[in-house]
Amino acid sequence: MGKNRICDLLGIRYPILQAPMNWVSGAALAAAVSEAGGLGTLGPNAGAEDITTDVDLTGERTRAQIRKVRSLTRAPFAVNIVVGFGSDVKFSKKIVEVVIEEAVPVAIVSVGRPDVYTRVLKHAGVKVLHAISTARHAIKAEQAGVDAVICEGFEAGGHKGFTELTTLVLTPLVADAVRVPVVAGGGIGDARGVLAALALGADGIYMGTRFMVTRESESHPRVKEVIARGEDVCTTSVPKDHMLARDLINNFSKQYTGMRAAGASPEELRHYLSEHSQYHAQHLGQVDGAEICCGQVAGLITEVQGAGEVMADIVGNIKARFDALRQKLAGFL
Ligand SMILES: Cc1cc2nc3c(=O)[nH]c(=O)nc-3n(C[C@H](O)[C@H](O)[C@H](O)COP(=O)(O)O)c2cc1C
Repeated sequence: MGKNRICDLLGIRYPILQAPMNWVSGAALAAAVSEAGGLGTLGPNAGAEDITTDVDLTGERTRAQIRKVRSLTRAPFAVNIVVGFGSDVKFSKKIVEVVIEEAVPVAIVSVGRPDVYTRVLKHAGVKVLHAISTARHAIKAEQAGVDAVICEGFEAGGHKGFTELTTLVLTPLVADAVRVPVVAGGGIGDARGVLAALALGADGIYMGTRFMVTRESESHPRVKEVIARGEDVCTTSVPKDHMLARDLINNFSKQYTGMRAAGASPEELRHYLSEHSQYHAQHLGQVDGAEICCGQVAGLITEVQGAGEVMADIVGNIKARFDALRQKLAGFL
């Protein structure tokens, strides 16, 4: 292993983590990224064909995906634990149980407090990475005993807190605030982004949207195509009950934002969401009428590649990008 703190912590070759994505990051994607030397992650609804509200079935589906990853690679990988709110917590409790029973090496914990599961996971020997969106939250995660924190900037696809801190500001603030290794995510799609994040003080990087547009991702082919064609201005921030989501601009995002502005009740909004959910987009391919979480980095993605090709593209371009940077810095050095 090298001298990078994230590589050493996770036992991986390159400090590149594939971020968890609901209905998108299943065993094939996670295994491909881990095989290529990064850290693959199983997201919620990995490998699922339909929506379930059955807690035990959710656990067994996750167990099957964990075993599938292990059949495809011997490299380390992670499982996402979305802590959640209210009645969602019974699902995250079940995933924690399965992660421990299956001796998964790494948990990526998000959308919730760090003191809920960190102790029990660590006690079982699972490495815990906690996703945060403010420096204060990072300090709390460190105090709760996490092994590393993941900064999710405002550019990132998917759901995060109500703050709008971008990766450029959040990462150095967090790197100054904590001693544990820092992973930066949100807006990273190529070797330039990786170098920039490391320059900001990160030890590793976290990419979701770029890995969504890969052959191994479970995203519907129509979704991949729309994102590969997407421009820099194709996403928007959508306020939800407990957080903001960054989504592709489509009929869903317009309709939902319009309903909120017109004063729709929480029940009406929840009902609309459930009928036009990520499942409808990612699994059924309803690209205009359902929610597609997507980061600003979509503007940089132009084709559907293999996950290993994405890794090779980044790793292969780091040196040239670094040399170009060194030249630009000549006056300072
Ligand atoms: C389609 C999609 C689904 C996501 N679902 C989840 C999720 O279930 N759990 C989670 O912790 N983060 C989720 N995220 C957020 C990602 O894990 C990560 O923070 C984000 O993709 C990083 O920014 P980027 O998209 O610019 O690479 C999702 C992101 C996307 C694009």
